[in-house]
Amino acid sequence: LHGSSTNIVWHKSSVEKIDRQELLQQKGCVIWITGLSGSGKSTVACALTRALHARGKMTYILDGDNVRHGLNRDLTFKAEDRAENIRRIGEIAKLFADAGVICIASVISPYRKDRDTCRSILPDGDFVEVFMDIPLCTCEARDPKGLYKLARAGKIKGFTGIDDPYEAPLNPEIVLQQGEVCPPPEAMAEKVISYLEAKGY
Ligand code: PPS
Repeated sequence: LHGSSTNIVWHKSSVEKIDRQELLQQKGCVIWITGLSGSGKSTVACALTRALHARGKMTYILDGDNVRHGLNRDLTFKAEDRAENIRRIGEIAKLFADAGVICIASVISPYRKDRDTCRSILPDGDFVEVFMDIPLCTCEARDPKGLYKLARAGKIKGFTGIDDPYEAPLNPEIVLQQGEVCPPPEAMAEKVISYLEAKGY
């Protein structure tokens, strides 16, 4: 992407992922929650981390909004910066998974290609894509931060779903939808946990 390093050799550790997993009694993986702003990504991430923690599992949330306050503070919302945002979060998530942690990434990640790249750097099965399939009209009605209102008024340019694209996943491991009413976040988190259990995580 931005040039690759030369003259560097991979340094193998004397304690491997398998040893850490044994210590933690869990399998490290990445739960990647994608969806529009206001679709409930962070809320589900919080419910999921709480439920897993209560079951004695070590988790860590990487939230787009939060990471953009620190590591990714240099990035804007134009397409190439969003791609770099996702690339960095994907690489950090990979490190967490290698540490044996269940890493929950909660980011809009609007481009399929960027999400697929994150999937491709992880061992098979370790990237679990969770699509918050909540219609734009619901997200906009919620508008928890007042950002949709600003975007509609033209005060924010390039807002996802308004004047910037969101490419829904084609084959996500898990789809979280609302029916007549949106299920509570705890119920959505349980759906993710059931999947993890079924897959032996
Ligand atoms: S991305 O697209 O994956 O790089 O975005 P992410 O790092 O997840 O950051 C999304 C949060 O940034 C706020 N915000 C915007 N979102 C979308 N488009 C534009 N232009 C924008 N500007 C600011 C918004 O609060 C998002 O938070 P969430 O939690 O998704 O509502």
